[in-house]
Amino acid sequence: MKPQPDPDVRVAPDKPILESIAVSKHFSSETGLLQRKKPPVQAVNEVSLAVRRGETLALVGESGSGKSTLGRVLLNLLKPTAGDVIYEGRNLANLAPDKLRQVRRDLQIIFQDPFASLNPRMSVEAIVGEPIWLHRDDSRSARQDKVAELLRTVGLAPEHGSRYPHEFSGGQRQRIGIARALASEPRLILGDEPVSALDVSVQAQVVNLLEDLKHQFGLTLVIVAHGLAVIRHMSDRVAVMYLGEIVELAPVDALFETPLHPYTQALMAAVPVSHPDLRHPRAVLAGDMPSPSKPPSGCRFHTRCPHVRPLCREHKPLFESVEGERQVACHYWREIANAGAGSLIVPTPSAAYTRRLDLFKSHQALSLESQQ
Ligand SMILES: Nc1ncnc2c1ncn2[C@@H]1O[C@H](COP(=O)(O)OP(=O)(O)OP(=O)(O)O)[C@@H](O)[C@H]1O
Ligand code: SF4
Ligand SMILES: [Mg+2]
Repeated sequence: MKPQPDPDVRVAPDKPILESIAVSKHFSSETGLLQRKKPPVQAVNEVSLAVRRGETLALVGESGSGKSTLGRVLLNLLKPTAGDVIYEGRNLANLAPDKLRQVRRDLQIIFQDPFASLNPRMSVEAIVGEPIWLHRDDSRSARQDKVAELLRTVGLAPEHGSRYPHEFSGGQRQRIGIARALASEPRLILGDEPVSALDVSVQAQVVNLLEDLKHQFGLTLVIVAHGLAVIRHMSDRVAVMYLGEIVELAPVDALFETPLHPYTQALMAAVPVSHPDLRHPRAVLAGDMPSPSKPPSGCRFHTRCPHVRPLCREHKPLFESVEGERQVACHYWREIANAGAGSLIVPTPSAAYTRRLDLFKSHQALSLESQQ
């Protein structure tokens, strides 16, 4: 049986499927008896974010900015240190165990590394079928039929079920991971860097598969990614994270055309992408990201921001709503936008960026042709 389209997609399009309300996740570090207690790692700090039903929401930011931690907290794989996660209007902290089991089925994750995330000793049938075995009492042949159907859905052959992960390419293994996620008939899938370990041409195939599945099953997607070309292609909205906080949230075209936050502007200029041929040669952001155990006061970006003023060091900017369904956390975003029209704010993608995007798209066209 295929996962069924979510009937709520038609009846309640405006209701967020998943929300975080002032969610923090701080990791305390283990210390020996004689060592001084270290401050906790503030991986995620007071993040409020609503994931809209049926959208593809991207989480972007430098390594260590808290994307994966936020994703895991949203999926109830990690308990928040503070704040609430609301799924379908219900606070996960107050759910009874049987309801939480259903939430676990509804919210699935696929990982970056298809080589590491599949158990090498299990056959594909066992890997893909495990969620079905856990959650249902079907007969063996019914389960085999379901696994065969799922493998077909992700572009693999039912015969692949008897093979083992090492017999597959990276892209095929990612398809196996996606089939396993689909086995639970989820409503939302979080892809944590789902294509960044793959070749660019294979990335396009997996991105296309995720988009097809999203439409076929009425899924909501949350995609954690470094590769901005992938994000631009597949997401509806983008949340930009810096040092555990969301600094800008905007519809994808608006974010790429007029990034408002100085950090987003720097990210756009750097265009970090995973493929070596597409990598930008220079680091646009000065310095390293500060330690999340000792984040800067006021605006967390102030130690690297070219527009920093005294207020920034003392007061945290509000994450304010601005026109065009956007939110930004910067005291001076208006002044920066006005003063920088044409220089600080990038009104159109740079020529270098456009070249990289074209290259990505041509890889995609090639892979589409090869699929036909
Ligand atoms: N279990 C943990 N214990 C302690 N610190 C952690 C733990 N998990 C994550 N962190 C720290 O929290 C911060 C955010 O990590 P996270 O993995 O969420 O970032 P990320 O944005 O996903 O990075 P990347 O792009 O490298 O995957 C980092 O400083 C990381 O070292
Ligand atoms: S609040 Fe200040 S330091 Fe922070 S991004 Fe805005 S200008 Fe830069
Ligand atoms: Mg991560």
